[in-house]
Amino acid sequence: MALSALVNRLKSEGKNVLNFNAGEPDYNTPEFIKIAAMKAINENFTRYTANEGHPSLIKAILKKFKTENDLHFSEENILVSSGAKHSLYNILNAICNPGDEVIFQTPYWVSYPEMVKLVQAKPVIIEAGTSQSFKITPEQLKNSITKNTKAFIFNTPSNPTGAVYSKAEILALAEVLKEEDIYVISDEIYEKITFDGEKHFAIGSIDFMKDKTITVNGVSKSYAMTGWRIGYAGGPKEVIRLARNLQSHSTSNACSISQAAAISALTEHAEEIQEMVAGFHERRNIIVQELNEIQGIVCPLPKGAFYVFFDVHSYYGTHVNGYQIKDSASFCHYLLDEVSVGLVPGSAFGNDNCVRMSYACSVNDLQEGFKRIQQGLKKLEK
Ligand SMILES: Cc1ncc(COP(=O)(O)O)c(C=O)c1O
Repeated sequence: MALSALVNRLKSEGKNVLNFNAGEPDYNTPEFIKIAAMKAINENFTRYTANEGHPSLIKAILKKFKTENDLHFSEENILVSSGAKHSLYNILNAICNPGDEVIFQTPYWVSYPEMVKLVQAKPVIIEAGTSQSFKITPEQLKNSITKNTKAFIFNTPSNPTGAVYSKAEILALAEVLKEEDIYVISDEIYEKITFDGEKHFAIGSIDFMKDKTITVNGVSKSYAMTGWRIGYAGGPKEVIRLARNLQSHSTSNACSISQAAAISALTEHAEEIQEMVAGFHERRNIIVQELNEIQGIVCPLPKGAFYVFFDVHSYYGTHVNGYQIKDSASFCHYLLDEVSVGLVPGSAFGNDNCVRMSYACSVNDLQEGFKRIQQGLKKLEK
């Protein structure tokens, strides 16, 4: 957060900062979705909807879950919220009591530990570094379960690493959970952004997992709709009922116009989304190659999302002009000050050896970014 504030300050001072911190597609919301929203306004679809989501959107979500994820729900299993983040928070609030334990891995999305703490539960963190391609093993999962475990938050494709768990890996994790009385909260927000023929697999579609999995998704990343704030969850009736109640008395329904836009996103032309994913794929190839050519950087190949999470710890212990590089934060501070490149320290995601770079930006910016990073790193002395 401190670095983001600094990036913004430098930009407002007119400095040519290349900011690779974006957590959202640089593409615009596709035209057909915007048209659906304008139609909704013109037709006065501007009033409260049902708290849990308009029936037409719930119908579209049911169909999406069934045809794309082999998840078979009824209306009462669905919650539409103001973003996937909102769904996640309401679900955690619905299922957690003070002192419950919630398992998730590092590198994690920054909001998981904070949300878990907000509902007075305890984060239980499994470490998964570069050597295991940022993926946990079934043994690690097994060893982290205690009698207090309430839930396991699972995120594939991952923010910040772009790691995608294969179907076989997911089946192996599910085997560990088979006999356990633990909810799985499966955050599948980057589902559609996968590369190299990798196909997303929903853990909730495994027969013995369906009664304990809450699948969370949304339109933010897959349809370039981050500002519209529509997310949704499908899960066991008793969990969804509680989350709906909480939502009803805190925020109520998600924006009616955005819901209309989301219906069109989920039910109309898929081509524009494929073009966006193809664009990310091309950039992913460029970025991984270029970064690995910089001495001392190890950048694993991400299979999804629009981030690379690369290891820079070989620079720790170097220095120049009063800058001491000792961790991911000092590494990012140095590059921002010295060559005006904005990256996110891995410490924000629970892994201090790495930094995150988003490639939701133009290829030109990426190329210029590599040059600057190289220039900055060359100056560092042992
Ligand atoms: C892993 C992950 N889950 C959930 C979200 C939240 O998405 P939304 O915009 O739908 O709230 C994000 C957004 O950055 C994310 O990276």
